[in-house]
Amino acid sequence: MMVTSTLYMVLQVVIGVVLAQADAASLSKSWENVAYHRTVDVSRTYTQERIDLHIKNIDNKAIEEYYFVLPEGIFENIALFSAQLKRADAFLESAIIPQQTFVANGEHVKVAVVKMPTSVEPGSSTDIAITLVYGSHRQPYSGSVEMGERQLLHLSTNTYPLSAYNTQQYTMSLEGSPSIEVVSNSSDDNFSCRKEGSRLDCESHKAIGPYQKTAPLKIVFERNLPSSRVSFLAREVWVSHWASTMQFEESYDLVNDAAPLKGGFSRAEYMKGQHAMKQHGHLTALEMVLPSDSEEHYFTDLVGAVSTFRVLQDHIFLKPRFPIFGGWKYNFTIGWTNGLSQFLHIEDVDTESFVLSVPILNGPADTYYSKMNLSVYLPEGSEVLDVWCPLPVVSTEVTASKSYFDLNNGHTKVTFELNNMVDTVSTSKVFVRYKFSTFSFYRKPISIAASIFISLMAFFFLKQITFTIEN
Ligand SMILES: *[C@@H]1O[C@H](CO)[C@@H](O)[C@H](O)[C@H]1NC(C)=O
Ligand SMILES: *[C@@H]1O[C@H](CO)[C@@H](O)[C@H](O)[C@H]1NC(C)=O
Ligand SMILES: *[C@@H]1O[C@H](CO)[C@@H](O)[C@H](O)[C@H]1NC(C)=O
Ligand SMILES: *[C@@H]1O[C@H](CO)[C@@H](O)[C@H](O)[C@H]1NC(C)=O
Repeated sequence: MMVTSTLYMVLQVVIGVVLAQADAASLSKSWENVAYHRTVDVSRTYTQERIDLHIKNIDNKAIEEYYFVLPEGIFENIALFSAQLKRADAFLESAIIPQQTFVANGEHVKVAVVKMPTSVEPGSSTDIAITLVYGSHRQPYSGSVEMGERQLLHLSTNTYPLSAYNTQQYTMSLEGSPSIEVVSNSSDDNFSCRKEGSRLDCESHKAIGPYQKTAPLKIVFERNLPSSRVSFLAREVWVSHWASTMQFEESYDLVNDAAPLKGGFSRAEYMKGQHAMKQHGHLTALEMVLPSDSEEHYFTDLVGAVSTFRVLQDHIFLKPRFPIFGGWKYNFTIGWTNGLSQFLHIEDVDTESFVLSVPILNGPADTYYSKMNLSVYLPEGSEVLDVWCPLPVVSTEVTASKSYFDLNNGHTKVTFELNNMVDTVSTSKVFVRYKFSTFSFYRKPISIAASIFISLMAFFFLKQITFTIEN
């Protein structure tokens, strides 16, 4: 929150006031990108990009902020954004200002402010790395596939970097597939690509100006895996001090964005080719990692019937009743219960305040989430003091929610509304600080006492957790 607001002010100063739209030319051109290298990784169902920048201050005054420009199409689907100082391997304060759109060369762009730890003197240079993770629309290349046929996907990206600054040297690598090819048909002799094993290495033979108009680079790559996207996840967490439990219930609206089957599904062909055993675009099972020592698991699908699942240590394996082919949808609900002490920390015994740390996700690996609501139901009579979420939220709402068993006002409900998430944020947690009076519950002193140590550890590891997300 603090970070965002200081950087927000930086941008306000730069452009005078925050307008709905501003000319990108109003941003200073104090830097030069001496070298700009993009690595685009297509191995997952979403796109991961790393941008390594060697930048030089070409102004006559010391500067602290670097403006990183993002095409609006990427911003709308962005899940993670981070900036690192390469020399120190440290994270840099950075923020994208969502309300502010810039216009550059007739196109809408968003600007992220990246703040250096100290100002950079004129003529000096430094190295930073930007990481972007975003949902990308990949079309099946030939529209549909035969059962078991190699799956080719089509992806369009920028040929040239969109930058606020001049770029002297630009290179790009595309990786993460056994086969990647360029299919765009541009007659641009200033840009070329060559194969380097399974990787594609591209470079510009000329320097590139700020916001240079860019023809899309169209690539086709092989990916014989399902593309799981959760169009909506309702994740509910029920806190009971009385039972000393935390109950989870999640409802997934899942869709497989892989290539659809040519001519539809034939069970006979599916059985004959033993396709269930082969890794391909269809989804036959879902594996999730649950918080340790979970109990009372259940798994139901749309008609409410109980479906097959297995729990092995902290892993739950769900088996849908039919394989989910490209374009198919699957709605299901899973639930489980954990001990409250794993998540609850008593902040102050006298003021009866608590801190609850709730894991953000437990869903399957390699999955993109378009929308999610994480709702935490606190015991009746709780007063929310503070909430904190490490990811950008669309909204946070505190309401009273009455259920059948509530006598008075009902449970206090905190809802975090989130867009554009990826499975790798599952190690992150939201924190809810609240007050809950002794008079409103029978305390279970032993189980709660044990929580202090565990939850403090969670705080302690938070910084480290962020590192593993980025790597
Ligand atoms: C590629 O460009 C050439 C000449 O500009 C044109 O004849 C050809 O049809 C184009 N191919 C595709 C696939 O767009
Ligand atoms: C290639 O670069 C030259 C010099 O910078 C420029 O004049 C020309 O328009 C560029 N070609 C294309 C296709 O962009
Ligand atoms: C899944 O649920 C959503 C809304 O919750 C609904 O619009 C959709 O039709 C459902 N899909 C299936 C396959 O039942
Ligand atoms: C998600 O939560 C927001 C905020 O509480 C609410 O307005 C919205 O209706 C919820 N969406 C669904 C599908 O429940």
